[in-house]
Amino acid sequence: MKILVIGTGAREHALVRSLAQDPQVTALHAAPGNPGIAALAELHAVDPLDGPAVADLAVELGVDLVVVGPEAPLVAGVADSVRDVGIPVFGPSAAGARLEGSKAFAKEVMAAAGVPTAEPRVVTDRAQVDAALDAFGAPYVVKDDGLAAGKGVVVTSDRDEARNHALTCLAKPDGRLVVEDYLDGPEVSLFVLSDGSTVVPLVPAQDFKRALDADAGPNTGGMGAYSPLPWAPAGLVDEVVTQVAQPTVDEMRRRGTPFVGVLYVGLALTSRGTRVVEFNARFGDPETQVVLARLATPLAGVLMAAATGRLDTLPPLEWRDDAAVTVVVASHGYPSEVRSGDPITGIDEAEQVEGVHVLHAGTALRQAAAGDDDAALDAGVLVSAGGRVLTVVGVGADLAAARTAAYAGVERIDLPGSHHRTDIARAAAAGE
Ligand code: GLY
Repeated sequence: MKILVIGTGAREHALVRSLAQDPQVTALHAAPGNPGIAALAELHAVDPLDGPAVADLAVELGVDLVVVGPEAPLVAGVADSVRDVGIPVFGPSAAGARLEGSKAFAKEVMAAAGVPTAEPRVVTDRAQVDAALDAFGAPYVVKDDGLAAGKGVVVTSDRDEARNHALTCLAKPDGRLVVEDYLDGPEVSLFVLSDGSTVVPLVPAQDFKRALDADAGPNTGGMGAYSPLPWAPAGLVDEVVTQVAQPTVDEMRRRGTPFVGVLYVGLALTSRGTRVVEFNARFGDPETQVVLARLATPLAGVLMAAATGRLDTLPPLEWRDDAAVTVVVASHGYPSEVRSGDPITGIDEAEQVEGVHVLHAGTALRQAAAGDDDAALDAGVLVSAGGRVLTVVGVGADLAAARTAAYAGVERIDLPGSHHRTDIARAAAAGE
């Protein structure tokens, strides 16, 4: 099977790594990819947001399957362009990706499907902001309706901060936002594969969204993750499939926009029961890095079954007994003023730790500037090129072993000015 993976992050590196281990896969391509992915797949300099260009590339390469990783190409309709040329795609249409691309739309679908979630109020002008904040009270939950590169959600007890975020959302073209009830309780990410009708859950993971230890600091795209969740209720996955994923997929099909790909269900286990915090239309990052590290079933056949409406024929997924922990190494200043261009060393040393592999996200090979002899000497050096630079994955017999491995890997990596959380999976590994 020949596969083209779209995206540049550690999630896509994890997907490519798993696909490379599948004996069915005969060729791997990525666009645009990153230097880590380049070790496993041929890279192509194609704009991932340009649907016709991605479709042309898929035809030219003769791939059997295209896997679209990030949300922006999905919302932009890249999967539609590829389907239009007759190539199976793992990833929803633009209409399906609205489950992530519009918070208000997702709430509308959840209401129609009877999915338990926080009561929302959609705000479309400045005059409605104060009334919405007052209706719910603190802590305030204010969500940009559209995609916002991880910066769309503010949860705060500071009314001015909540109000300012609301006004920032409204100031965008066609700006609108959702204000909703605060959901207490631990959060869980569950990825559910869908072929438009049948759903197949993966294993739950937990993400650490705040920048600093003890869940302090600003929100980020995610600073680490682990799986399994020993503290999660035994029936959680079945409950989410029955109460959330299947009704949502059924509702999308009923609307004539079947959802094909992965429905990322962000959950809060509240004192009043399980509630959906958000839907995303793609794999989560960094949760994918730990979920795929535990998947024993070869990945290509699973994604192809979803893309071609055959999930009902798939044998039950097999999982390793191992635990996995991933720690994100972020660049200086992340998530606000990100510094790029710092040299990265120690990846090989990290991967010598048993159970460790390192996935690239914001990395690049330094380019030589024309006429600059010093820069020419440094050309080809691996440097940081984004906020989340690497994810270091540790796999072990239990969470404590996986955590020890992951942090031993992180210690071997040198990236000037970088930072990482030191408490990923600490409580769970300690049985808390
Ligand atoms: N880990 C959060 C996300 O992928 O959106």
